[in-house]
Formats: sequence, structure tokens, C-alpha cells
Amino acid sequence: MKILICGKGGSGKSTLTSILARALNKNGKTVLVVDADESNLCLNRLLGARMPDVLMDAMGGRKGVKEKLNPPLPVQPEEAFLKDPLTLADIPEACLADANGVKLLVVGKIRAFGEGCACMIGNISKTVLNRLQTKPNEIVLIDAEAGLEHFGRRVDAGCDLILCVVDPTFESFTLVDSVQRMAESAGIEVAYVLNKVDDTVRQPMTERLDSRQVLTAIPKSEVLFTKSLNGDPLDVDFQEIQPICDFIERFEKPSVTFKIL
Ligand SMILES: Nc1ncnc2c1ncn2[C@@H]1O[C@H](COP(=O)(O)OP(=O)(O)OP(=O)(O)O)[C@@H](O)[C@H]1O
Ligand SMILES: [Mg+2]
Repeated sequence: MKILICGKGGSGKSTLTSILARALNKNGKTVLVVDADESNLCLNRLLGARMPDVLMDAMGGRKGVKEKLNPPLPVQPEEAFLKDPLTLADIPEACLADANGVKLLVVGKIRAFGEGCACMIGNISKTVLNRLQTKPNEIVLIDAEAGLEHFGRRVDAGCDLILCVVDPTFESFTLVDSVQRMAESAGIEVAYVLNKVDDTVRQPMTERLDSRQVLTAIPKSEVLFTKSLNGDPLDVDFQEIQPICDFIERFEKPSVTFKIL
């Protein structure tokens, strides 16, 4: 099952990705985290993993990606890791880092002035997620970039479920309307995770959303904040994560590949 985690900038997407990956792994799932955010640099630190080889580099950088995503037919066998369908076992070992059993794949990062836009990185994410087929016990968590760009790029089309992180800001509430609309037009179910919740904001936050779609409320946590300030792994367990694991358990089904490329 492939789950895209989205939300406004700073709402807690990477935090949720990290603590949910850890919880799912503890629940016996095989978990692959896909870092599809081209700008942020520290998801590996939050997971407690080293930085693996970046997929875009392994594909030969921008030039190599262009050729591999639009190869002259027939596709060469050495392009195996982009084959269709793609399984977790097809991902090159060097592009995977381990965090206590959770695997991390980093799609691409903007690293040099003037190197080009992030569309190519989005294109790799879209291609990989569309082709990736998961087995019943395998969960892929995609940490998306902030906002709605992933919808514009159709990255979500390769996913089974969208989890939208909502923090206590007006912008987050506003984003929810767009996420709902775009997820509906993509035909993908969306569920919401409230984040940074304390007693002051709990009621106004729950009033803003359809309670049937809200899976849980993660508390505002000094521990999470301090660990992320120091670049430490988020090796903490929150009981509020379990409702998300339970929902995923119920939702899980053989993944469907949408041919939209
Ligand atoms: N439940 C929480 N309690 C306290 N602080 C939190 C919580 N969740 C996230 N934070 C803090 O909020 C900040 C942003 O979190 P995070 O990096 O996970 O957001 P993001 O949505 O991934 O951001 P970006 O859009 O930049 O990728 C970090 O300082 C993080 O520690
Ligand atoms: Mg992030």
C-alpha cells in the first residue's frame, strides 16, 4: 500500500512520516519511506538513517534521467529498476538506507545554483510510484513537498491513500479544502491527521474538519520539537499513532497501478 503524506509547509509531514514509519515497522509491516521532497535535507536524520545514494544520481543525473524516462524502445534490461511493474526488491541497494528495519529512498535534491527546476524529481517520483506494486504487508510512505505541487505533478495518482497533516493554522485549514477537492478528482481517499494539538486548539481544529475523516490528533510535544532541533532521530512512541496504523490495517489491499504516464 502506498500512502502519500501531505500538508502545508512546516505542518509536520516529515515528523509524521518518521514516527508512523517506526510504528508500522513495530506493527510488523515492511516499511519503505520515500523522500519525495526535493528541498528538505534531513528526513534521514529524523529516521536515524544515513543518507543513501540519491535515486536521481543513480539514474545518471538530469541527463541520465531524461534518457531513462524516455528511452528509445525497446527498454534495455539494465533499466530494471524502472521496470513496470516495479517491486521493492527492484530498488538498487545503494539507494536504500536502513533505520532499524525501516528503509529510506531519496528521490532527488536540489543542490546547485541554476541546476534546473524540481519537475524532473517530481517526474521520477511519479514514475516510481506509478510502477511500484506493493505486497499486502508492505507499506510505502511518501513524504511529499509542502503544498499542492504533488497534485499538479500527478504524484498522488500512484498512491492508494493520502494522509494530510493539519496543524493549527488558518492556512492548513484552507489547504484542506483544496486537498479534498483534488483527492476526489484523482479518485483517492484522503484522511486527516491533526498535529501540534493542545487543549487550546483541539476544539477549533476538530470543528473545521469532518470528524469521520480525522484519524487522530498528535499532541504538541516538546520532545519532538527538541529532537528535531538537534537533528536527532524521532525515536519516540505516541499512542496517538496507533489509530493511523489500525486504519491502514483496515484499508490495506493489493495496490493498484494507474497507468497515467
Ligand atoms: N507534534 C509536534 N509537536 C511539536 N513540534 C512539532 C510537532 N510536529 C512537528 N513539530 C515541529 O514542527 C517543525 C516542522 O516539522 P516538520 O519538519 O515535520 O514539518 P514538514 O511539514 O515536514 O515541513 P516542510 O514543509 O518544511 O517539509 C519542526 O520543528 C518539528 O519539530
Ligand atoms: Mg518535511
